[in-house]
Amino acid sequence: VGDEDAEYLVSLIRSIPGFPKEGIVFRDFMPVLADARALGILMNALEAALPVDADSFDLVAGLEARGFLFGPALAVRLGKGFVAVRKAGKLPPETVKQSYDLEYGQATVEIETGSVHEGARVLIVDDLIATGGTANAARSLVEKCGGKVVGFSFVMELLGIHGIESLGDCPTSSLVTMP
Ligand code: PRP
Ligand code: ADE
Repeated sequence: VGDEDAEYLVSLIRSIPGFPKEGIVFRDFMPVLADARALGILMNALEAALPVDADSFDLVAGLEARGFLFGPALAVRLGKGFVAVRKAGKLPPETVKQSYDLEYGQATVEIETGSVHEGARVLIVDDLIATGGTANAARSLVEKCGGKVVGFSFVMELLGIHGIESLGDCPTSSLVTMP
């Protein structure tokens, strides 16, 4: 991705102070999705920045809700299947569950039992990593199913709250770092 394209992508990320509560600056990439040029740049950049070779994973797992918005598109480009990591209560039984802390609350995620097969190698994708709570919970789910997370791809990374560090030494990419 060239400088001009990168600048264009970043220019469409919106920052909303005080949402969803005081003290948080909400980083919103929806305007990127709404813009044909920026969406193309985003998908090319995600593919170019993959933290591991595409041959080294079988599945892309996306986190509800914003990881659903580009995870399947990335999976299609790479010839992989897509697994949904959902917020609790949305999937029929049986599921595997994991609770975690968010920058602004607490939540539980789950996946359908069997959607990640024993030995599956998984790339986890999401729009943003803040504390890393969500991403770590998703990795725990994959591991509970007998799968292995080989990497994480994010669009945005929030600096200063050690999200990427919380993932340990797992290969990780993020396109844009933000305060
Ligand atoms: C946001 C974001 C990530 C998560 C990152 O989702 O899309 O999934 O927070 O935060 P963390 O690194 O501190 O865990 P949110 O839980 O707000 O849900 P949404 O995508 O359904 O809006
Ligand atoms: N998820 C956690 N923190 C966030 C933030 N500041 N903006 C958008 N999504 C988030």
